[in-house]
Amino acid sequence: MPEKKNEVIHAALLGAGTVGGGLYRLVKKMKKEIPHRIGCELDIKKVLVRDASKPRKGIDESVLTDNWDEILNDKDIQIVIELMGGTSLAKAHIIDALNAGKHVVTANKDLLAQHGEEIFAAARENNCDIQFEAAVAGAIPIIRPLMQNMAGDNITEIMGIVNGTTNYILTMMTEEKMSYSEALKIAQEKGYAESDPASDVEGLDAARKLAIMAQLIYHTNVTFEDVYKEGITAIMPDDIRYTGELGYVIKLVGITKLTEGKVEARVHPIMLKKDHPLASVRKSFNAIFVKGEAMDEAMFMGRGAGSMPTASAVLGDVLDVMRNIRMGCCGRVQVENYRDIPVKPIDETKNNYFIRMKVEDRPGVLAEIANVLGDNKVGIANVSQKDTRDGVADLLFIIEEVKESHMVEACCAMRGLDCVYSIANVIRVY
Ligand code: NAP
Ligand code: HSE
Repeated sequence: MPEKKNEVIHAALLGAGTVGGGLYRLVKKMKKEIPHRIGCELDIKKVLVRDASKPRKGIDESVLTDNWDEILNDKDIQIVIELMGGTSLAKAHIIDALNAGKHVVTANKDLLAQHGEEIFAAARENNCDIQFEAAVAGAIPIIRPLMQNMAGDNITEIMGIVNGTTNYILTMMTEEKMSYSEALKIAQEKGYAESDPASDVEGLDAARKLAIMAQLIYHTNVTFEDVYKEGITAIMPDDIRYTGELGYVIKLVGITKLTEGKVEARVHPIMLKKDHPLASVRKSFNAIFVKGEAMDEAMFMGRGAGSMPTASAVLGDVLDVMRNIRMGCCGRVQVENYRDIPVKPIDETKNNYFIRMKVEDRPGVLAEIANVLGDNKVGIANVSQKDTRDGVADLLFIIEEVKESHMVEACCAMRGLDCVYSIANVIRVY
């Protein structure tokens, strides 16, 4: 067995904001426990910030720096914990750190979803650890399960609620009949939303997390650009009310699966039966539902964001790196993209759909619409007529599984009918 060395392992923290500040506090709190659990102490020797002269509550002034070279050139610092965010400077620092033989822990989903392959290659070449549990779904253990616990299985599908802001908004619109803008405002006040909440509500944040998970399970490069993105801004109170009456809830999910030799990677609202395990995931909670050939099904649920939950996942990674350093086995677990699988365009995917449309309230309208659907190879599973006011009826369809391109063509043709005033929404159904 390799000799156990290192009384203290020194690390540097890049960023002392929401997550970085939380991590610093957590390390202080766990200071006495860590040596018992790992066999040596953890020292945060330097903290990189933009303005080192600004006092930071709970952080020793002596460790603050705005000079990256002080960290890069410090041979004692073995671990760099990147919690500054952004994609250019963070990428440069991470690559520099890995090339200098320092191990890296990061929560930066934006960076990994865009430049993961380059960063993972640098870690491999330098035999360094790169750990990023907090980059997907905050405190929920999902990266390590996918990379290690499930490494002996073929994962066939992931469906996850991986954005707390949108799940909070949809929950409040459904349960409290709150307006979209009121719910978003509260999500921002509670600190769930990104600084630009468009990233949450347009599905971009979820797409970043999905891209990371997709490449881990399919061992092929899937980036943020590859993921189809549709947010929740088009979901109206009528959609929530009517789908609820039909026995569904609406959630924003990220889905990745392998079909016909291609990777599907998409983020969009979906209608889930009320008894589906993800349907009961409420407010800012995240959950990830995984299917594997051998393992069958598993679900991971918990806090997907916030200072201390995210710091908890980051510190877990740091302690794992410390174990590896002590045992001389760093670089043991790497991201291996040994396949080259194409990504399937959204119009080639197959789904069930819900259609809500406003139509003229007169005999024969349903037949006209059914003909157009049939002409476009679209089959009806269920149809119902709801509120009728001033000669306008709300017509709801559940559509049998069909290729997205046929659905798009059918909608286009239905819009051309005089009796169809509007197709108010089309939502995919699981
Ligand atoms: P944040 O509150 O904005 O903090 C960013 C920190 O980085 C600040 O301390 C800032 O320094 C420092 N920083 C930024 N640019 C810098 C630069 N050019 N040079 C030196 N320091 C710089 O961000 P956060 O919410 O903690 O997020 C950090 C990372 O964690 C991001 O990648 C984010 O996506 C990820 N993440 C966050 C959450 C969450 O719940 N917040 C959850 C999962 C993952 P100053 O203080 O001097 O400005
Ligand atoms: N804005 C993100 C969310 C934060 O709402 O889930 C965590 O990534």
